[in-house]
Amino acid sequence: MQFRTVVTPDDTQLDALIVPVFKDGDAFSGARPADRQMAEWVAREQGSSKLFSTTTHLRQADGGATRLVVVAAGKRDDYDIQRAWQIASAGVKALWASTAKSIGVVLDTQALPAAEAIQAAVEGVHFGLWRPDTHRTAEEDSTLPPVETVFLICADAQVDGAEAIRRGTAVGEAVNWARTLANEPANLMTPTNIAAQATDLAHSAGMQIEVLDEDQCRSMGMGSYLSVAHGSDEPAKFIVVRHHGRDGDGYDLGLVGKGITFDSGGISIKPAADMHLMKYDMSGAAAVLAAASAIARLGLPINVIAVAPCTENLPGGHATKPGDVFTSLSGKTVEVINTDAEGRLVLIDGVTYAEREGATRVVDVATLTGAIAVALGKHYIGLFGRPAGFVDAVRRAGEQSGERLWPMPLADEYRGDIQSDIADIKNSAGREGGAIYGAAFVEAGVGPDIEWAHLDIASVGWHESDRSFSPKGPQGPAVRTIVELASSIAARKR
Ligand code: BES
Ligand code: MN
Ligand code: ZN
Repeated sequence: MQFRTVVTPDDTQLDALIVPVFKDGDAFSGARPADRQMAEWVAREQGSSKLFSTTTHLRQADGGATRLVVVAAGKRDDYDIQRAWQIASAGVKALWASTAKSIGVVLDTQALPAAEAIQAAVEGVHFGLWRPDTHRTAEEDSTLPPVETVFLICADAQVDGAEAIRRGTAVGEAVNWARTLANEPANLMTPTNIAAQATDLAHSAGMQIEVLDEDQCRSMGMGSYLSVAHGSDEPAKFIVVRHHGRDGDGYDLGLVGKGITFDSGGISIKPAADMHLMKYDMSGAAAVLAAASAIARLGLPINVIAVAPCTENLPGGHATKPGDVFTSLSGKTVEVINTDAEGRLVLIDGVTYAEREGATRVVDVATLTGAIAVALGKHYIGLFGRPAGFVDAVRRAGEQSGERLWPMPLADEYRGDIQSDIADIKNSAGREGGAIYGAAFVEAGVGPDIEWAHLDIASVGWHESDRSFSPKGPQGPAVRTIVELASSIAARKR
């Protein structure tokens, strides 16, 4: 798929034109409808439609039928980067049933700086051209339009969009890679297969990759991570990818992603309802691997290490029992009160590993707790960490990338509540404030001088209903935020 910025597209070249309209004030500043009928259609949508809803009009053009997709863009004042990619995504999703090869997307380069509008639109086009139904055999049900060229229509003739297109492509493809992994069923997306997918990804992005097996993890002392694998016959895989974008040792950013390829809860087994969704409990692993690949493809001048401790969480004759105690890589002993609080058990060893490899900043990403969705609903990522300055940098990176993160508290009282009677820490301290206890546990694996942030994506990782900009299913969260954070770290280094 090729992206090109243009001032006025040649209508006869386009199979479809996506035109956003604001609810209030002027229509989209970039929208210069080429003819009266189009202007009428656009005007008709203004003011009436629900945010991101689309209306498709067919019109006869010289080269054949051209589709006009009008996307309701909400209020001009509310327009931001997240809106921008969601609008582009809704526009191309409205073309799912079409055979459009060449499409135009009208951008508003007054409401947002051109580079931001372009990058967001490129990401949104990628996001909109992803479908979840990979295992449907009736092919006509599950095809996407064969889009070859996307014209990004900017009223500003001065715009050089090359860099924004490069970024948008790297991020958009990474987000979809993460969605694809999260969407695949657990019988296919095993730890071994994640390692295989990560190997392909690393090779195509120019990253180093290493996959540690259970014996290697055991001899290193990752007793907490391995305790989750005890009940499963699928071999656990601890995946490590590295991007060396500058000379010298150490890592400017360490990433750790929860890679539970299926979370049954283990002996503390989950109820059957919705258990099938626990195939996406590896979304954190997918996010950090995907983000690292985008960082490598963009050649950012920093060093990044991403680790993905992967395993299933199943009950079995060797499974961890509530009350069992293990020694983590950090040396801290952990009491497993609830085998369903397994994410923190794998993360604590992951963050210690990243730190020992030389990461001075660590960001972990996990579908960690149902409690984060109780706290925030389905639309914000829960953000924890320290020091406050770093947490704020992560939140701003999120905003700049078109994602939403909300800061959550972490204090000594919570740290005290996870003290165990028999060991150093325990993995559950009750339901109230559950997301905070998850964060406090992971923090115990991070040294005091490390900048650390924890993103609980259990709230946003899987959306249970179809939206005009996104089908029901995996949403690929945190990739954009991490790439943006890496860019901001790289910019400070220059
Ligand atoms: N993977 C789950 C969290 C989850 C729940 C993710 C729903 C996505 C949707 C996690 O491993 C878990 O089971 N957490 C428990 C923790 C509790 C036992 C302390 C939870 O949230 O109930
Ligand atoms: Mn669990
Ligand atoms: Zn889990």
